[in-house]
Amino acid sequence: MNQPETLATLQASVHAPAYVKHIRLLAWVRDMAALMQPDAIQWCDGTDAEYNALCDTLVKAGVFKKLNDAKRPNSFLACSDPSDVARVEDRTFICCEKKENAGPTNNWMAPAEMRATLNPLFTGCMRGRTMYVVPFSMGPLGSPIAHIGVELSDSAYVAVNMKIMTRMGKGALDVLGTDGEFVPCVHTVGAPLSAGQKDVTWPCNKTKYIVHYPETREIWSYGSGYGGNALLGKKCFALRIASNMGLRDGWLAEHMLILGVTNPQGKKYHVAAAFPSACGKTNFAMLIPPKGFEGWKVTTIGDDIAWIKPGKDGRLYAINPEAGYFGVAPGTNEKSNLNCLTSIKRDTIFTNVALTDDGDVWWEGLTDTPPAHLIDWQGKDWTPAIAKETGAKAAHPNSRFTVAATNNPALDPEWDNPAGVAIDAFIFGGRRGTTIPLVTEARDWTEGVYMAATLGSETTAAIAGQVGVVRRDPFAMIAFAGYNMSDYFAHWLKLGKKLADSGAKLPKLFTVNWFRKDADGKFVWPGFGDNMRVLAWMLERVEGKGQGVEHAFGTTPRYGDLNWNGTDFSEAKYESVTRMDRDEWTAELKLHADLFEQLKHNLPAELPATKAKIEARLAA
Ligand code: GTP
Ligand code: SPV
Ligand code: MN
Repeated sequence: MNQPETLATLQASVHAPAYVKHIRLLAWVRDMAALMQPDAIQWCDGTDAEYNALCDTLVKAGVFKKLNDAKRPNSFLACSDPSDVARVEDRTFICCEKKENAGPTNNWMAPAEMRATLNPLFTGCMRGRTMYVVPFSMGPLGSPIAHIGVELSDSAYVAVNMKIMTRMGKGALDVLGTDGEFVPCVHTVGAPLSAGQKDVTWPCNKTKYIVHYPETREIWSYGSGYGGNALLGKKCFALRIASNMGLRDGWLAEHMLILGVTNPQGKKYHVAAAFPSACGKTNFAMLIPPKGFEGWKVTTIGDDIAWIKPGKDGRLYAINPEAGYFGVAPGTNEKSNLNCLTSIKRDTIFTNVALTDDGDVWWEGLTDTPPAHLIDWQGKDWTPAIAKETGAKAAHPNSRFTVAATNNPALDPEWDNPAGVAIDAFIFGGRRGTTIPLVTEARDWTEGVYMAATLGSETTAAIAGQVGVVRRDPFAMIAFAGYNMSDYFAHWLKLGKKLADSGAKLPKLFTVNWFRKDADGKFVWPGFGDNMRVLAWMLERVEGKGQGVEHAFGTTPRYGDLNWNGTDFSEAKYESVTRMDRDEWTAELKLHADLFEQLKHNLPAELPATKAKIEARLAA
């Protein structure tokens, strides 16, 4: 058969529009359709008309509730099955040939064994449903640092979320041309329908598999329709697969927000910060400087993921591969995050928040006084009295909004720049009620890598399972590094050495903790806008100014070293969020030792050596 015939035949076999001219893509879609047996195939072009039509379909199917257009224009509420509300880390797998390349922090299965496991599950899994073909670009369309993916999904909810979260549609196919590279992403909710069977509003399956084959760069996701389990451009591609690309090609894919910060003199800096899931990235990225910081401005480049590449000048340039925010709703209010609240005033998909009687949304922390009556995220009546009696939450703790970056009033003008922004400082931070000071600067790159590698954080509702247990979350990447964690540390150390050897000024490395608690279990540090006080100190340090005292772990500012304009936060309180307690640190270092024991295969010698120095200083 000659080429044009093959193309036409292939296009016809999968109902592809004439503009799809990529033979490998068409053949893959045909093979996947043969495997999963959908009733129909719909190619997504990414237009607003298509988005609106899909939302209409979702409303008619009862998956979406259209919100009151006067209060929340062009916005919808979806409520998931109560069993499908967060990322399932215990069902997430890295399937490379050698187990040691996945490392002890990832679930591993040999590719052949996993394929044999998945094949029966995916056979006929889309019966009775439409398969959406969702082409997308992670990063600006056509940018040399962007990568293309194509997600096949039997969920229209996924298709509309992907439209907001990525550069989705025909434009991505144009970039792909006739033979460009793409990451194939296969997603099914795992709930085929037999003829005449009535659908449920949130189909999913008790059996779940979130599977990555880094060597062949494939993603296969089964059984969940929620968040990072299903929107495969996000954690699966932009972190787990991309971290493997970065290891090979000398760059970084990180669980980091990126922000711009301009001081009153008009000098602009860029900062990237890694905090674990539901530990403050979106909030920090949209920070509004508090009273006393007139003339300072913070602008958002990204709120969750950064792709970072060394430039010719030896600096590190970061882009946000995403185009929208899938952010935590609870706790978001006018005082904590006005920019966020403004972003989600319209054009937003809400998932698992509560519905008000006038067709708007509500979640814990939105207002001090809750409405007198709500329909909670599980469709039940909710009143403050019921909540008091049963403890029922109106919104699920991991309820979220999906909104385009372009809705953000604090969006940085460079957010879409394919060249990225030069990073001046990296921040790492966990959620820790005790032990870890408000802010610490690393004395050098290696000490910073140590701080990031040994990061601990209390688990949150973003992950299915127990909430509030301290676990090690190196670089906030425990669930996202798609290869051996020790090799990941080595990659960071090597990059630092390479930049230093080139004579470039390295970004400064810091660790923060906004979450120290008092004896009553209340957060001592006000957080949110007041985090600006810490950010400003870090920039002073970047400028070679700014004072602090060295301790066992690094350098921390004294009370007098921070700007307290506009607040009455006392020295005593400051002492309680910065104090280094010897017993707590002895216990903490034991946890670092446990981590290093777990990661001993390929663990860079610099890390235990840094630990020994900390121990020596602590003993002195
Ligand atoms: P993911 O999207 O899961 O990666 O989360 P994230 O890191 O973007 O966290 P986000 O900014 O959405 O914050 C999660 C929760 O922490 C929300 O309930 C916030 O209100 C709360 N939070 C954020 N920043 C602060 C802070 O500085 N202090 C306190 N006490 N809470 C905060
Ligand atoms: C996270 O859990 O870190 C998130 C939400 O950003 S999800 O997209 O579900 O991964
Ligand atoms: Mn995240």
